[in-house]
Amino acid sequence: MSMERFLTGITTSGTPHLGNYVGSIRPSVRASLQSEVQSFYFLADYHALIKTADPARIQRSTLEIAASWLSCGLDPERVVFYRQSDIVEISELAWFLSCVVGKGVLNRAHAYKAAVDKNCAAGMDADADISVGLFMYPVLMGADILMFNAHKVPVGRDQVQHIEMARDMAHSFNHRYGSHFIEPKAVIEDNVATLPGLDGRKMSKSYDNIIPLFAPREQLQKLINGIVTDSKTPGEAKTTEGSALFQMYQAFATPSQTAIFQQDFANGIAWSEAKQRVFERIDQEIAPMRSTYLSLIQNPDRIETILKAGATQARAVATPFMNQLRHAVGLRPLQTQGMAGTTKAGKAATPVFKQYREKDGRFYFKLMSAQGRMLLQSTGFDSPHDAGKTMALLSQTGADALVGLSNHLLISPGTSDHELAMALKQLQTS
Ligand code: TRP
Repeated sequence: MSMERFLTGITTSGTPHLGNYVGSIRPSVRASLQSEVQSFYFLADYHALIKTADPARIQRSTLEIAASWLSCGLDPERVVFYRQSDIVEISELAWFLSCVVGKGVLNRAHAYKAAVDKNCAAGMDADADISVGLFMYPVLMGADILMFNAHKVPVGRDQVQHIEMARDMAHSFNHRYGSHFIEPKAVIEDNVATLPGLDGRKMSKSYDNIIPLFAPREQLQKLINGIVTDSKTPGEAKTTEGSALFQMYQAFATPSQTAIFQQDFANGIAWSEAKQRVFERIDQEIAPMRSTYLSLIQNPDRIETILKAGATQARAVATPFMNQLRHAVGLRPLQTQGMAGTTKAGKAATPVFKQYREKDGRFYFKLMSAQGRMLLQSTGFDSPHDAGKTMALLSQTGADALVGLSNHLLISPGTSDHELAMALKQLQTS
């Protein structure tokens, strides 16, 4: 039984707001606590370069977003949490994919098309001020996903087209070079609340109507006091429908608390009191996380260490896989020509780790030789994370790690020490 892999990225070009929390951070952290899935969450900082040319902002945003996710309960022991730019293989894979995806497909990407339409409407050249980075956005995103052979990608509706394109790229690549990629599926988060912003429209940086997730208490209160309401006076019955304040309360409260609040609306609660209640309800949930957040922000080295550990785990998958892909497309060491000639399309020509889950519910991996023979098998691990750490250690330290891990590894009969050492070396140097 193989385990389902979920993957999602967060672009590091801004400061997280309450809308991000309700729509993305909170549901993703909850989903990551399910033991049935293996989750990869990453900071999409290569993508951020498309959106901003301010280096300090990229660095600050990476710090803030990482600290936000961690303080909201993302557990780096359960989730592979990393920074996109630490996985250099991703940019190489993006190039491979750009060679199998049609330019016409990218012409149809919503973000690119919107930019073109805007230029045309302004009477400018269609491609004025549009970078190739923006045009290639879906390819980079495809590389993020396919690098880890994710099955499911939780995204908002606006990103579904990108996942379709990633499927397309996987399909084209597999068609040419053999079956390497899983075709990912979008998981659309429809039943998470979308939060209204200060002006009642969806909370979004582009509407300039946001409440920063970790605004200090006083600022949070001030911003909530600024939410638009109608001009009904205290004592007058108020409608919950279309009320930004009510929706905001609902996104944080239990159904029974919400029902009481609804009754208070009908009874003519004063807007000032309603605002106070919203503030208190939100602050109750956010306050404990806010203090964790502040302490993390003040210790960037702690976050750096966590991200580096995540990168090590992610690269334990990415590095051997990228080797396999390089071979597949014909970027091969010249002296392995003979071997390569006998390699069928789709077969790995370098050793690879394969991860899987058994009926006992435990997590395993095996190391396959370039010719597809099992060289070693692990014993069961309690979590995918533990299996990942062991693979990372093996691919970094090579044969020297074997002795220390002997309790966790079963070397296949017929695998010589030499063969194993060579295979590990190939993983290591790759
Ligand atoms: N494009 C996504 C967004 O703006 C972020 C992202 C980058 C992403 N790479 C990804 C999401 C891969 C899912 C999978 O929201």
